[in-house]
Amino acid sequence: MKAGILGSTGYTGAELVRILIQHPEVELAFVDSRSYEHQPFEAVYSNLKGQAEMTAVSVDPENLPEKVDIVFCALPHRISQHKVILLQRQGIRVVDLSADFRLDQQSVYEQWYNTPHEAPELLEKAVYGLPEWYAEELKETRLAANPGCFPTSILLPLLPLLKENLVTGEHLVIDSKTGVSGAGRGPSAVNVFSQVNENVRAYGIGTHRHTPEIEQELSKAAGKSVTLQFTPHLVPMDRGILSTIVMPLPEGLTERKLQDCYQAYYDHKPFIRLLGTDTLPETKAVRGSNFCDIAWKADRRSGNLILVSVIDNLIKGSSGEAVQNMNLMLGLPEEMGLHHLPIWP
Ligand SMILES: NC(=O)c1ccc[n+]([C@@H]2O[C@H](COP(=O)([O-])OP(=O)(O)OC[C@H]3O[C@@H](n4cnc5c(N)ncnc54)[C@H](OP(=O)(O)O)[C@@H]3O)[C@@H](O)[C@H]2O)c1
Repeated sequence: MKAGILGSTGYTGAELVRILIQHPEVELAFVDSRSYEHQPFEAVYSNLKGQAEMTAVSVDPENLPEKVDIVFCALPHRISQHKVILLQRQGIRVVDLSADFRLDQQSVYEQWYNTPHEAPELLEKAVYGLPEWYAEELKETRLAANPGCFPTSILLPLLPLLKENLVTGEHLVIDSKTGVSGAGRGPSAVNVFSQVNENVRAYGIGTHRHTPEIEQELSKAAGKSVTLQFTPHLVPMDRGILSTIVMPLPEGLTERKLQDCYQAYYDHKPFIRLLGTDTLPETKAVRGSNFCDIAWKADRRSGNLILVSVIDNLIKGSSGEAVQNMNLMLGLPEEMGLHHLPIWP
């Protein structure tokens, strides 16, 4: 089967290239870039020297250079939707890594992203690309809206507990730490070395754009409206997300019951690793892999339940998850081509 990548020289695009050139069933048909047009891909990413013998081309979505089974859009939001519209008109399957098709409601998108949505009719067709929860729908769809990186790290530990009514969804306080690659490859005043090195800072309290997406999916699982307090932090590492989720511990909810619930949902899921209560997740344990590690603690002294999760934002938080979605959409085994073990240190 053949795949193409729009925005291949950004961070998520380059991870897609790295994963797909090792995929046993899918061949890369084209890698798109405006800025590096006509340049060999390995000249942009020297880690792929001798591995990705492809030249970047600037692709017109209405006139693709080759027939493909699927296209990944690894583009900024707003830019992406215009390309997706043109691809969908031709019936081409798309995994969109941007936020353009993640929200069910046009008005919520327009409010949080401060830009008009040009294809509200596609919002209904798009399937939220969290494969552990929407595998059956993903097998049928031609448009997967790949989740945000923070949402992936937060939804995977929370959804089973809300779905089973083990927690109420009230007073949810979430603290997430992310590495700098979460902001993409483009330089900005807040992500240059001297701003990030030896520094930790909170940002976007109450305003981060991943908030409505997390609330949307939690509300569906809970069967009622869920509101949360989400505080992301930028920390001086290249990649990785660690999320700590705190909520009141309901009476009678034991660590054993939590374990039973998680096992029921995730024991057969290839990329979820349940750490339980004795080992706490750390970002290096998933670095370079498609794993999400989850731990939980019932703290009777404070009366709180604490969940901790980690992912690699560029793999399980974007490109690995996107390939997992592609596998489902193309009828391939969900885990195919995604068995990269974590890199330590
Ligand atoms: N980074 C993460 O951890 C992460 C996680 C989950 C989701 N995402 C989402 O995935 C998408 C890609 O993220 P990324 O981190 O790979 O971003 P990035 O490193 O900034 O790359 C985006 C690429 O899009 C291309 N592009 C095409 N038209 C553009 C335009 N008008 N303005 C700017 N760039 C344009 C650029 O390549 P050319 O100039 O060469 O065409 C650029 O390299 C975004 O929507 C992001 O929100 C990112």
